[in-house]
Amino acid sequence: MPLIQWNDALSVKIDKFDDQHKKLVGLINELHTAMSQGKGKEIISHAINAMIDYTRTHFKDEEAFMKMHNYPELNAQQKAHAQFVDKVLDFKKQYETGVLTTTVQLFSFLNTWLIEHIKKSDAKYGQALANKAV
Ligand SMILES: [Fe+2]
Repeated sequence: MPLIQWNDALSVKIDKFDDQHKKLVGLINELHTAMSQGKGKEIISHAINAMIDYTRTHFKDEEAFMKMHNYPELNAQQKAHAQFVDKVLDFKKQYETGVLTTTVQLFSFLNTWLIEHIKKSDAKYGQALANKAV
């Protein structure tokens, strides 16, 4: 899998959330770079913790924004966000217990989930609420 390239197709047309999404893409790409240098295992714990920390802030911000504007798909977004955090926590547990020995599945999950989520779910709130962003 190649590095994720940021492009307009990923934009939700709200600068604050585009910036946060770029940061998430950056975290995933860092993991990718480490893997390609054979250092995936060394940074896996850091990568998982950084992802958990940053997505918590990001999801909270998005959900607060959706709530403020009575966005009808808030519940579905909350559910998707919670499932994502659970899955990453599960990777963390697998890593800590020695079950997870490679970064490949983690990278592939993060990569696929984030791109799909931004393009499908987040693009919708972008369309609905971009004119309300400050
Ligand atoms: Fe998002």
